[in-house]
Amino acid sequence: MDKVYIFDTTLRDGEQSPGATMNLQEKVRLARQLERLGVDIIEAGFPAASPGDFEAVREIARAVKEVQVAGLCRAVKRDIELAYEAVKESSNPRIHTFIATSDIHLKHKLRKSREEVLELTREAVGFASSLCPNVEFSAEDASRSDWDYLVQVFNVAVQAGAKVLNVPDTVGYTQPDEFAELIKYLIEHVKRGPEVIFSVHCHNDLGLAVANTLAALKAGARQAEVTLSGIGERAGNAALEEVIMNLKVREDRYKLLTNVKSEQIYPSCRLLSMIIGQPIPPYKAIVGANAFAHESGIHQDGVLKHKATYEIMTPESVGKTSSDIVLGKHSGRHAVKKKLEELGYRLSEEQLDQVFMAIKKLADKKKQIFEEDVEAVVLEEIFRLPDKYKLIYLSAISGNMAIPTAVLKMDVNGEEKKLAHFGVGPIDAVFNTIGRIVGRKPKLLRYSVNAITGGTDAQGEVTVKIEENNLTSVGRASDPDIIVASAKAYINALNRLVKKEEEKKNG
Ligand code: KIV
Ligand code: ZN
Repeated sequence: MDKVYIFDTTLRDGEQSPGATMNLQEKVRLARQLERLGVDIIEAGFPAASPGDFEAVREIARAVKEVQVAGLCRAVKRDIELAYEAVKESSNPRIHTFIATSDIHLKHKLRKSREEVLELTREAVGFASSLCPNVEFSAEDASRSDWDYLVQVFNVAVQAGAKVLNVPDTVGYTQPDEFAELIKYLIEHVKRGPEVIFSVHCHNDLGLAVANTLAALKAGARQAEVTLSGIGERAGNAALEEVIMNLKVREDRYKLLTNVKSEQIYPSCRLLSMIIGQPIPPYKAIVGANAFAHESGIHQDGVLKHKATYEIMTPESVGKTSSDIVLGKHSGRHAVKKKLEELGYRLSEEQLDQVFMAIKKLADKKKQIFEEDVEAVVLEEIFRLPDKYKLIYLSAISGNMAIPTAVLKMDVNGEEKKLAHFGVGPIDAVFNTIGRIVGRKPKLLRYSVNAITGGTDAQGEVTVKIEENNLTSVGRASDPDIIVASAKAYINALNRLVKKEEEKKNG
């Protein structure tokens, strides 16, 4: 069976998804999880986009060892230099350079002729190959490009040293049979040695990203560019978990192998969801809460008699085991350390103490601590940026006979401030009070609350999205008390907004 390389771009294309920005520590944590998942290449970011992106790519390149780390760059010398600088400490660095090839992009975006783009491809790939032997070249908007021109561009890229030729369906326009024909055409016409492979990168605008990726793999492409839960620009990219489970469940048709450990799929998607503060939709294939829930009586009867009647894969095969209780009130520091190691965290002794204390505090309120709870505690205790605004104390009153009131004490840039205020409900009262304390009134665009695990004592996970002065930010927090979780999430969103404002000011 042939091997398919899995190129994960959650940290690059995925991060372009609205509201999916991650801080440096969160990116490194997710990269470590992607390494455990068994992807072959992590596209860690676009180093020329900002100093923050550069730093994150460099830290990821240093942190992971078993996986290639790619940096994306335009076909521009300075971008390529920065991409190489950022990935060069990886045990296996890759430069991923791209230029558009469709006439519509050439005419309206690049304002260049086909000949000029051929020349830029030659120069960019040649320069990248002089820095690093592992170069990927992408023909942006390939699926809307003239096929023979695409062959010319890829021939030039191969001559200049590219080892991976990526065919993006940038705008999610192609259809599975058409895309398969294009891949076959390129395989037949591009002059290359056996060490050069074709890759595909599909967007989901028409809901076909996974179908197009699978059709291309069947036609001979040997690298799939995917993201966890399909996050990405606009409607997103091909979802890693769907591509992998199709290849696995229908191995009879594809006869293709990957290195991905499917049992790490759900923990990976769950971690991403916690980091970006966007819950996995319950109906999401493979990883949604309902993906293995049988509602109809006929189905339940069938499954009880024989699982295979309505189950084509097991929840265990994608790492969706029934949440095991992992820790409790009496768990010691050693048990917490062991669980954290199992989850892939490498914490200093000081950080471990911090997490241990927070878990003890949580166990006082909530009897059973699940993996999801541990993950939420680490993200909040360790991976938060130094914040301008912090919650010290909160009390809220609500009920059908009371005027909803919140009393808060906060630390604002090192100064303690307290205030009480009203609202139409307790959350409104809390948000109004926070707004007055920090002197801002952003617009609340989204508010959602989810239970992290089952049970009435489950932690509530709150996500808020706010907007002020044309900047938006998403905040997330969890707590067994949903009013406290809401306050912490709102404050987290404000802190992220402050960071964005600073980044905008510093260019
Ligand atoms: O969608 C796209 O074309 C891309 C390329 C940069 C690979 O993301
Ligand atoms: Zn893309």
